[in-house]
Amino acid sequence: MGDLLDVENISISFTQYTKGLNQRDLRVINDLTLNIEEGEILAVLGSSGSGKSLLAHAIMGILPENAHLSGKIKFKGNELTEKDKEELRGSKMSFIPQSVNFLDPLMKISDQAIGNCKSDEERREKRIKQREIFEHYNLGPEVDEMYPHQLSGGMARRVLVSTALLSDPELVIADEPTPGLDEKTVEETLNHFRHMKEDNIGVLLITHDIHAALDVADRIGIFYSGYVIEIAQTKDFSGDGENLLHPYTKALYNALPANGFNLVKGHQPLHGEIRNGCPFYDRCEMKFDRCKNERPQLIDIGDKKVRCFKYEEGA
Ligand SMILES: Nc1ncnc2c1ncn2[C@@H]1O[C@H](COP(=O)(O)OP(=O)(O)OP(=O)(O)O)[C@@H](O)[C@H]1O
Ligand code: SF4
Ligand SMILES: [Mg+2]
Repeated sequence: MGDLLDVENISISFTQYTKGLNQRDLRVINDLTLNIEEGEILAVLGSSGSGKSLLAHAIMGILPENAHLSGKIKFKGNELTEKDKEELRGSKMSFIPQSVNFLDPLMKISDQAIGNCKSDEERREKRIKQREIFEHYNLGPEVDEMYPHQLSGGMARRVLVSTALLSDPELVIADEPTPGLDEKTVEETLNHFRHMKEDNIGVLLITHDIHAALDVADRIGIFYSGYVIEIAQTKDFSGDGENLLHPYTKALYNALPANGFNLVKGHQPLHGEIRNGCPFYDRCEMKFDRCKNERPQLIDIGDKKVRCFKYEEGA
């Protein structure tokens, strides 16, 4: 197995206009590093506003125009330009969007699944393939002629998943594929990801549903205020959480109903609120002097990564 995707030290900021014509840079993703191997599911878990969607958009090359991106994004070892991303998008890299509103309300389902084609020949071939994949996802021929408002929530979700698979992708990025779905449809959706893994597709599964992440992922990356603060093995979310490294990850795990709901006090700082020091400083029960003014780096600890001084040599 090799690395399919490498995200290396990316930062994203927006120019914000304050009083008068003053500008300031608002950093929303900071020095973010992660990788996905072929056939691996990496879940990215984080509360609202932690930067999950922006990460997806940066990889797919669909950030808004006023966003500044730095750092490297590599696909199979090759650094991607925005033009490369455009070529890979909808072919080797597919996106399952957060909302079914992504579907065009005025276009028939099969037409939007197939998309633009260069020739009639290509259109015919794609239509055959589309039908096969739709069939596989239990979407009968009648669905082809439907418009988005005629689909149930579960059907719409299956349309998005099958559309993403139409191009034989090697990497699928799914942004919050489960909210608002009933339990059965959630399980069905997670099964789709298991099948992708069996087909050796790498999956980045963005979610704030820790149960979904624990159910299907091989590893879990934890986001906090635009930082990756830990990348853990899924199996480490067990027992008393003694194999988890970062105090926030441990707190998340302890907050699961099965572990007694020990919520960590306080809130995730907004961008611009973290001046110096560790982003988790205000809420951390293990903080010490160094954490106040110095920012910890993401370091490797065996097969996981953590951003916390406690794990640095000599700490
Ligand atoms: N176009 C933009 N201009 C300025 N700030 C933005 C823009 N888009 C996103 N942000 C900010 O970047 C931060 C991260 O946004 P993002 O959408 O990635 O969060 P998220 O983790 O996906 O949240 P959610 O779980 O609610 O989907 C947020 O604080 C958001 O306000
Ligand atoms: S670096 Fe310090 S404040 Fe941050 S999580 Fe580790 S111990 Fe807590
Ligand atoms: Mg989002």
